[in-house]
Amino acid sequence: MHDKWLWWRDGVIYQIYPRSYSDSNGDGMGDLNGIRSRLAYLQDLGVDAIWLSPVYPSPDKDFGYDVSDYTGIDPRYGTLKDFDNLVKEAHQRDVRIIMDLVLNHTSDQHPWFKESRSSRDNPFRDWYLWRPAKPDGSPPNNWQSVFGGGGWKFDPQTGEYYFHMFLPEQPDVNWRHPAVRQAMLGVFRFWLERGVDGFRLDVFNGYFKDAELKDNPARFGLRAFDRQFHIHDTDQPEMIPLLNEIRALLDAYPDRYMVGETFLATPQKAIRYIGNTKAHAAFNFNFTGQPWHAGKMRSAILEWEGLNGKEGWPNYVLNNHDTRRSASRYHFDEADLRGKTAALLLLTLRGTPFLYYGEEIGMRDIALKRSEIMDPPGKLYWPIYQGRDGCRSPMQWDTSAQAGFSRSRPWLKLHPGFHDRNVAIQQANADSLLNFYKKMLQLRRQHPALHRGSMEMLKEIPAGLLAYIRADMQERILIAINFSRSKRNCLLPAGEPVSVLLDTMPAWPAQLDGSGHLQLRGGQGVALLLHGGD
Ligand code: GLC
Repeated sequence: MHDKWLWWRDGVIYQIYPRSYSDSNGDGMGDLNGIRSRLAYLQDLGVDAIWLSPVYPSPDKDFGYDVSDYTGIDPRYGTLKDFDNLVKEAHQRDVRIIMDLVLNHTSDQHPWFKESRSSRDNPFRDWYLWRPAKPDGSPPNNWQSVFGGGGWKFDPQTGEYYFHMFLPEQPDVNWRHPAVRQAMLGVFRFWLERGVDGFRLDVFNGYFKDAELKDNPARFGLRAFDRQFHIHDTDQPEMIPLLNEIRALLDAYPDRYMVGETFLATPQKAIRYIGNTKAHAAFNFNFTGQPWHAGKMRSAILEWEGLNGKEGWPNYVLNNHDTRRSASRYHFDEADLRGKTAALLLLTLRGTPFLYYGEEIGMRDIALKRSEIMDPPGKLYWPIYQGRDGCRSPMQWDTSAQAGFSRSRPWLKLHPGFHDRNVAIQQANADSLLNFYKKMLQLRRQHPALHRGSMEMLKEIPAGLLAYIRADMQERILIAINFSRSKRNCLLPAGEPVSVLLDTMPAWPAQLDGSGHLQLRGGQGVALLLHGGD
């Protein structure tokens, strides 16, 4: 058990998609001053850190994930001064800032790439992955782009191909080049010196590719990208020493943090990158991908717990900017009872929880017509895959014309239901999802067992239930969640009287009978304090 509060381990991280959070200058796009104006809200909500999706200058082919300057702020988001003010005020409010670093690729408008593509003997040529065509003119190997089509783009200017894992406008950099490595470490240093508390590393396990660029072996799959085992274009052994080096750099500053976005993640893959000399955390998305099903959730949690071990520290996430919102995925009812249960689960598991803006008010995905789709893979694969715009709609603050997000028409349309679902309305309703999140976050902070305690899954319980005990030296807290639609009885650990800390259905509280049974309604969840033997 640890004693000292550590923000990234014991706290809760809230992801902001800056374009859609709060627009201070009325151009229809969120910005840094907009975020700063919402810090009081975030502090009151009870989160410990915010992770900002990219705010660097970008031609926006992939909405900021194509960066043309790693040490600048896109003028549409503000200035470096605005950034400094945001960091300063966030810190005054005890909220940390995590930057999203997109270092697997740059924008094709980055000066490095412009130099690189200008001639074969330019000093920046080897900063990217350039190769001549095969004798028959075909691309250098069989690698594909995850956004569709081949991974190699022929550039007529110098008559060679370059590799891009994502869009052709997102050329992959050559991390094997010592100058690239130094430049990228300089980016970390730049933001550390500006006072940021941590980094989310975009597609970090894609940085290195096989040195000989060997073909990936074939496998069964639908799209060309899925018809390969991605063993040569991701997850190369060189990533570990690089993580060691980045970690040493971070550790030269107090309490800094990095979480990797594991590309093509599996729990087994993600765990390789976590440790005292590697990343503090890496996403595996296995939990995120589970259906609303007690047994499946339990297996995903136990697998991740098992891989992390008692000394390791897992992380859990239900929402991000790349996936359908949980409210839509799990078909939350209008009263958000399921939303409360999902919050109870996410915020009581052992590990760092990540929230995504709007999750706390149960924002749903927006529906888009084909002509409205902006996300490149959505355009390409429609209607089979409709892209990621759905989960990126503007934050719903109040009932005013643009939901309090902006004075003018937002860059992406608002959810039509924002009049009934917004922060102002939910703040005024004691029983709202927002107030449930607040209560849950407070409870989590007040009880060390909930944020840093051990976790033990109860095994002998009826199907449809998920139950576990979080414990430290002082307290034991039982979480029981009924994923099914009908009543369930759960036998509490022997002879322990309890008191209820939180119930997702306070109007119909969970029943406890004299024989040690807890009865939960369909969809109900509770957190109970167990008075072990005293
Ligand atoms: C990551 C980001 C995603 C982006 C991609 C390319 O997966 O989360 O939004 O499109 O990297 O940078």
